[in-house]
Order: sequence, then structure tokens, then C-alpha cells
Amino acid sequence: MAIENGITPNSSPTSVSSPTRITTIAEIGEHVDERITLRGWLYNLRASGKLLFPIFRDGSGTIQGVVPKAEVPERVFETLKSLTLESSLTVTGRVRADSRAPSGYELDVEDLTVIQRIPEETPYPIQLKEAGVDFLMEHRHLWIRTPRQSAILRVRATIMRAAAEFFDNRGYVRTDPPILTPNACEGTSELFEMEYFDEGKAYLTQSGQLYVEATAMALGRVYSFGPTFRAEKSKTRRHLTEFWMIEPEVTYMDLDGLMNLAECFLTHIVRRALELHAADLKIIGKDVTKLEAVIAGSAPNGCEDGREQRSGFPRLSYDQAHAMLIEAHQRGLLENAHRYGDDFGSPDETYLSSQFAKPVMVHRYPASVKAFYMQPDPLDPSKALCVDVLAPEGYGEIIGGSQRIDDFDLLRRRIEEHHLPLEAFEWYLDLRRYGSVPHSGFGMGIERCVAWICGLEHIRETIPFARTLHRIYP
Ligand code: 4AD
Ligand code: MG
Repeated sequence: MAIENGITPNSSPTSVSSPTRITTIAEIGEHVDERITLRGWLYNLRASGKLLFPIFRDGSGTIQGVVPKAEVPERVFETLKSLTLESSLTVTGRVRADSRAPSGYELDVEDLTVIQRIPEETPYPIQLKEAGVDFLMEHRHLWIRTPRQSAILRVRATIMRAAAEFFDNRGYVRTDPPILTPNACEGTSELFEMEYFDEGKAYLTQSGQLYVEATAMALGRVYSFGPTFRAEKSKTRRHLTEFWMIEPEVTYMDLDGLMNLAECFLTHIVRRALELHAADLKIIGKDVTKLEAVIAGSAPNGCEDGREQRSGFPRLSYDQAHAMLIEAHQRGLLENAHRYGDDFGSPDETYLSSQFAKPVMVHRYPASVKAFYMQPDPLDPSKALCVDVLAPEGYGEIIGGSQRIDDFDLLRRRIEEHHLPLEAFEWYLDLRRYGSVPHSGFGMGIERCVAWICGLEHIRETIPFARTLHRIYP
């Protein structure tokens, strides 16, 4: 299966002999009325009398070919007519602009070389008809070839790049925390545990936060970006056991500064997704006006810390959010009344986000429902200086963050109250022993963000190979 790079010699006997330029479907608009070669797969095939309409895909997109029997060599017509779906091939033809085509272009096929023909007896398992989700997840390694899944993965890649570039462009230093850790960060009930040689137990990290707090004290503004793990025993549309989190941590930043940062950050990501993925979002079926509303009013060049022009994400205190939920319950819009002091349930979050076009920032939750490291609100120490950002359209919490406790005695007391092993946190307490400063940070789960931006029912489609309670294959 030798594949040439650059120019294909097109050695088949019946082909038109001049060499052609190899390109991709994504770049085909630059080659209108030219002869080009694509390298990919047969995605679909429709026949109508003496006309064939193959759909080719090459990873960058799909394009329909047109193959009139009378105008191509007989070998090309016959080969294509009986070609099985997902067989690999290279195809040469002339690019034609066609406003009726979904991509805006069609390919008038002239020649074709099959790289691997899938035999009829062992057809490609995923046919274009509807297949059940369990079947699709079992064949995830193949499912990702379908245009919708490929489009989601392309948007995911852009979201990850946009998230990192937001911090890179602002002088943040990326510092990578360890994945094997001696202690818990976000509660002890969701830890993946293992024996670590003679050192006792080790755990897969739930968050890089504690380590980026240390690197922030060294470098000022930092972020981490990597896989994190939660042994979530619940089967929901929003939880994975392995997911990617990006976590900025900033010295001398308070909760207000953190909320500004989160707003600028999300605005940048949405802007990039809209700029680069109009076609993909259309394939996925996302209503982009919902995303345009998120960035409406924001400065096109993003914002700088301190003098940002923000678009105004609504900000609600926990108490205000609670009052809205009670009112919604009284008006019959919510089945269960929210209990003051409890965390918000998924229907509560959905209701709150449905009241606004932009992400909602809920701040100052009761400290009792939040992590041990959060700074108490000086105006009401029963509340934590924290923020959860709820995505629009009911996608739930995408960002969680807070100002951190900077006082040694208080932090130590909190570790004890949460029954965490002090020895494992001695290094973390050192950050408050030696030159402690106020600091804040947040974490955003990439997959929650992808689910929201792409408008996906379930988080399992946001990552190439999802890890959930009941699935670790393929
Ligand atoms: O709210 P969480 O638990 O916050 C932290 O881990 C902090 N230490 C972050 C920080 O301040 N540096 O998680 C942060 C985000 C959530 O808002 C959500 O987007 C995502 O991580 N997340 C999950 N995503 C998928 N599956 C799960 N099981 C997730 N748990 C959290
Ligand atoms: Mg959270």
C-alpha cells in the first residue's frame, strides 16, 4: 500500500496521464476548476441509473463525487459501483463549485485507485442506518470516522488549543503537575488508588490544583493542562472517570479577579470555535446563535486582566440563586424546592442557566458543600469565596474555582476537620509557612465545555475514547 507524497504519478493504464496536486477536502475551495487528488475512504455511495454519487471522506471533511458512466473510463465506473463502504482509496477529479452541495463543492471524478477493498463477507460494521449507542460505543474506534464524530473531535482540538493559547498569550507559564499523587484534592470518595512500591498508597490525580498553587508561588501566573481522574460511581450524562482539565492559578488575585478571568477565558474559547468551525458546528447540528449570544458585547481582541472589556456574564450569589429556585418552585417550574445550604442539583442548575443567554457565575456557596482549601468570605465566614460557572442551555457546571485559604492556621484546621492526613499535606502547608499571599484559581473540564459548545446530549461523545463507570473498552 505505497502512498506517494506531494504529486501522484497516477500510473493506472486508463487514467489521464498528467500528475495532479494532492490536497484535502478542507482545502478544496482553493482548487476550484483544478484537477486534484484526494486520499481517503468511501463514506457513502448512491447510484441513480448511469450516474454514481459517491461521498468521499478524508478526515478533514466529506465531499460528494459525480460519476457519469459515459464520461469516465469503464474501469472507474465499475470499480466504484461495487465498492464497499469505508474501503480506502485515492480519487482524482476536477473540483466544481456548487452552491447546492453542503460543502459548496463537488468533485467530477476522473480516476480512482483502491488502496484496500473491504470484502463483502466482512462489511464495515457501522452502517449508515441508526445504530444503538451501546453498539456505537463498543465500536468507538470506528464510530469516530463518521462526519459528526469527526467534527466534534476537530472542535474539541480547537477548544483545547484556544484554552491553552488564552493563557500562553497572557504570560502564564504552563506547569505540569504529577498524575500520581500521595493525597486527595477534591474529597476522598472518588479516588483511584494503587500500591506505590514501599511508599504506601498512591492516587490518580483529581486535579492539579495543589501543585499549581506551589508553581504559582514560584512563577506568579501559571496553569496546568492534563488528564484528571475521578472514581465517579454515578452514571450521568456529565461525568467521566478520566477527563481533561485546564487549571490557571494566579498569585495576588481575589475572587472578583478570578470571575473576570473566567469570563474572558470562556469568551475567547467560544469566539475561536465560532471563527474556525462554522461548518463543523453545522454538521453537529449546533444552533450557533446561542454561542453568538455568549460573546455579544465583548471586545474582539479579548481582554487583559484589570482593564478588560467584558460582555457581562451574569453573577449571582448562592443566596440569590437559592431565592430564584424557591420562586421557580412556587410557580411550578421546578419539581423540588431547593433546600438552603445544599448544593444545587442538576435540575436546579438547568433552571438557573435557562434564565440567561450567557454563562452564569454563581459565587459564595456555603463552605460546608465545598472543598477544604477555599477562603471563607470575610463578610460571612459560613460562605466560601468560590465560583461555579454554569454553561447556558442546561449544560451544567463547566468551571469550578475559588480564592484559596492563605492563612496557615486556618488551612491546617480545615485539613483536620476534613479528616485528611496532615503528613501528606505538609508540603502544601509550607506554601502558607513561607511567604503566603492571597491567590485564586479555577479548573475547567474540557469535555463539559465541548458538550456545551457542540450541543451534545452526552459527555461520552466529547472525547475520543470515553472512560465511564461501565466502559473501559476499546
Ligand atoms: O469543580 P471541580 O471538582 O474543581 C476542582 O477540581 C478544582 N480543584 C479546580 C481548581 O480550582 N483548580 O472540577 C472542575 C471542573 C468542573 O467544573 C467540571 O467542568 C470538570 O472539572 N469535572 C468533570 N468533568 C467530567 N467528568 C467529571 N467527573 C468531572 N468532575 C469535574
Ligand atoms: Mg465543582
